[in-house]
Amino acid sequence: MGAFPKNFLWGGATAANQLEGGVREGGKGLSVPDVMTGGTKTSPRHVTDGILGQYHYPSHEAVDFYHHYKEDIALYGEMGFRCFRMSVNWTRLFPRGDEAEPNPQGLAFYRSVFAECRKYGIEPLVTISHYELPYYLAKEYGGWANRKLIAFFLKYCETLFREFKGLVHYWLTFNEINILQMGTYGNLMGGGILPPGEDTAVGVLPGLDESWDDEQRRYTALHHQLVASARAVKMAHEADADNKVGCMLLSRLSYPYTCRPEDVLKAQKVMQTANYYCGDVHVRGAYPAFAGRLWKEKGIVIPVAPGDPEILREGTVDFVSFSYYSSSTATDDPTVPVANGNMMRGQANPYLEQSQWGWTIDPKGLRYLLNEFYGRWQIPLMIVENGLGAEDVVEEDGSIHDEYRIAYMREHIEEMARAIEDGVELMGYTVWGCTDLVSAGTGEMAKRYGLVYVDKDNAGQGTLKRSKKDSFFWYQKVIESNGEDLG
Ligand code: BG6
Repeated sequence: MGAFPKNFLWGGATAANQLEGGVREGGKGLSVPDVMTGGTKTSPRHVTDGILGQYHYPSHEAVDFYHHYKEDIALYGEMGFRCFRMSVNWTRLFPRGDEAEPNPQGLAFYRSVFAECRKYGIEPLVTISHYELPYYLAKEYGGWANRKLIAFFLKYCETLFREFKGLVHYWLTFNEINILQMGTYGNLMGGGILPPGEDTAVGVLPGLDESWDDEQRRYTALHHQLVASARAVKMAHEADADNKVGCMLLSRLSYPYTCRPEDVLKAQKVMQTANYYCGDVHVRGAYPAFAGRLWKEKGIVIPVAPGDPEILREGTVDFVSFSYYSSSTATDDPTVPVANGNMMRGQANPYLEQSQWGWTIDPKGLRYLLNEFYGRWQIPLMIVENGLGAEDVVEEDGSIHDEYRIAYMREHIEEMARAIEDGVELMGYTVWGCTDLVSAGTGEMAKRYGLVYVDKDNAGQGTLKRSKKDSFFWYQKVIESNGEDLG
């Protein structure tokens, strides 16, 4: 018998703002990513005050899942997916975010998407908030720094749990909630905290103006989200005893750059701050011991309202989900160069290779992290994002030979199997961007993760035609053999 349990949730993962499009359809309102322009590996995205004529906004059409969802889900069915991670775009249900009643067209759309999944025996895993705060809440309320957002979010959650009862059993509250611990994208995508200007360059490139960042405001917003998440967990359980709710972390594996104790302590601090600050609140129901030191060092005060500690205690999650793409190292030696990585940067690792976007590739790190997380939290884990962003070449006959992506996935799945043998309880694996979609970091199409290719380029041109890559057929075999056939 193989390592993977019989009911292992194999599948793929997406987010509405990167996949769906239909920005003006079905009564949808604008979300924060709808005012973010396209960028590339070398040019930043911009966040603008409303929509400016001179720019291309990639979320507006994305890859048009809004009109292609039947075809896309049929392809997932063909691959044998048991799970499809997607997000509901908050602004399809509440276009401004503070309405009293949801938009019926939005409800009908998602009901139809979930029903389509069920047709193929695919379990939807729904991220409630994947960087998709209503723009109105960002603009008029100042985003999550405003405690009023908790109530708007809970209204939205209550609608989801009521309307999709029986259709959805697996939920994630906030995508990569810990992104709020970092500057630009933490503010923007995590917190819906907008820069003051009309047109601001933002993104993952070094050297951008971050003077509008305010740590006190960010950590306040994060506290509000942690409270909102805990209340949503409790609400989901009360709405349906079959609901399982997870948190979602941007995992950060940081090795000491050398065995100097200074580097070991630095790496430990990175791991504590990036993973355990939020993870412990979600799983254990309280901030960890080191949080006090962190707040003191940063000179910030968390606005804990009466009742918040009880809310956090009562709203602990059923499982921990996370994204894992790469690892980094930590040192207090400033001469060691910084490497790119998924939103959070660290120093490069001289023993490991990097992707075309400079992300360190580290399959063994996944086994290490799974052991770390399970050892600390002892509740089921799920990898809800992993994959390789790469440029693909379409051959003349239309085929796409993405053996680099297959190799990446194979090595990570092998390490997952080893972690399960180590005793880790792993529920599932959803590969990121199973259908090519817009990159969150750079806002481009050229960085492709998909097993299904979509004909669309960085300028927004293309037929939107879907084609199966070699990885499509490979993953189909993996799922069919429950992780045994990785050939
Ligand atoms: C995660 C996000 O941080 O990484 C996704 O949850 C994102 O939304 C993914 O797309 C990959 O990052 P990128 O920048 O390559 O799209």
